[in-house]
Amino acid sequence: MSLKEQLLGRVAEAPAHSGNKVTVVGVGQVGMACAFSILTQNVASEVALVDVVADKLKGEMLDLQHGSVFMRNARVLASTDYAVSANSRLCIVTAGARQKDGESRLDLVQRNTDIFKGIIPQLVKHSPDCILLIVSNPVDVMTYVAWKLSGFPKHRVIGSGTNLDSSRFRVLMSQRLNVAPSSVHGWIIGEHGDSSVPVWSGVNVAGVRLRELNPSLGAAEDKENWAEVHKQVVQSAYEVIRLKGYTSWAIGLSVATLTEAVLRNGGQVHAVSTVVQGYHGIDKEVFLSLPCVLSESGVSHIVKQPLTDEETAQLKRSADIMHEVQTRLKM
Ligand code: NAD
Ligand code: LAC
Repeated sequence: MSLKEQLLGRVAEAPAHSGNKVTVVGVGQVGMACAFSILTQNVASEVALVDVVADKLKGEMLDLQHGSVFMRNARVLASTDYAVSANSRLCIVTAGARQKDGESRLDLVQRNTDIFKGIIPQLVKHSPDCILLIVSNPVDVMTYVAWKLSGFPKHRVIGSGTNLDSSRFRVLMSQRLNVAPSSVHGWIIGEHGDSSVPVWSGVNVAGVRLRELNPSLGAAEDKENWAEVHKQVVQSAYEVIRLKGYTSWAIGLSVATLTEAVLRNGGQVHAVSTVVQGYHGIDKEVFLSLPCVLSESGVSHIVKQPLTDEETAQLKRSADIMHEVQTRLKM
């Protein structure tokens, strides 16, 4: 009898899977920030990592496994073989090229589309019922690419979208108001990127709409120049990339929150990238962020946010940009 058999009397077979397994593809700065946030916040107890660089992958897996005692005994697996991702409820894709200093997100589109052709069919093969959460940039177009490559229904393919931009917006406004970021409510919708749309008409603290106090909030004639806050949101990623080479912590935390919303089936509303055709007069088949109700089936509802004519026009501009990029894609 082995030591194990002497120690443990067998009663029943333990289930092979946790039931809340999450896969992260790409163990670069973003993938690891996502995995670390998910694990340390106990969002999932089983995380599989996939990448093409075997040594880096194994190193990251071992480093996380060595901390498992401090993460409620979470299981961390890794392989270059997608079989490791089998039976995931959610697959997060962070693999691919990132912007260099001065590059825009849209500059990455064809490189990352080519990479997705090798990734998405593998995830679908091993977890045919999963939700796909796309993070690689340009995230709205890459979510469209993943949707097309997967053949999944639209509610099961989500882009991390402007959940991050909305957080940046709230943080920057909170610094002006000296109120906690979570108590300042405001939404950025549209493209995760240069054409994102701030919904100034809805910004509020404790239900007090700031536009009722300052009717020119966010407009050019505003003496307090609140529009600058949205400019800073758009510049945020460029600034962080210039300073440290990449962005990671905020997107990792944002993705952990979205992961939790899906796994817990809690009905939280987040600004994520989804098919927006038919909303706000958009007639094109594009992904953009709108406030969405998240559930275990992915996006269950889109919140029909009242928008001003100007906000609607800006959103349509985002849709036109996405559509134009999509028409040039070699899929
Ligand atoms: P990184 O270079 O640090 O990591 C990319 C990883 O992808 C590397 O480990 C690489 O080996 C892996 N990879 C490349 N090709 C692969 C393939 N075919 N299969 C599996 N893995 C592969 O880059 P990063 O800083 O982690 O950024 C990753 C992506 O996330 C970029 O596209 C970046 O622009 C994007 N990003 C998105 C957001 C967002 O808000 N949506 C925020 C930050 C970064
Ligand atoms: C971000 C990335 C670069 O941090 O999309 O906004």
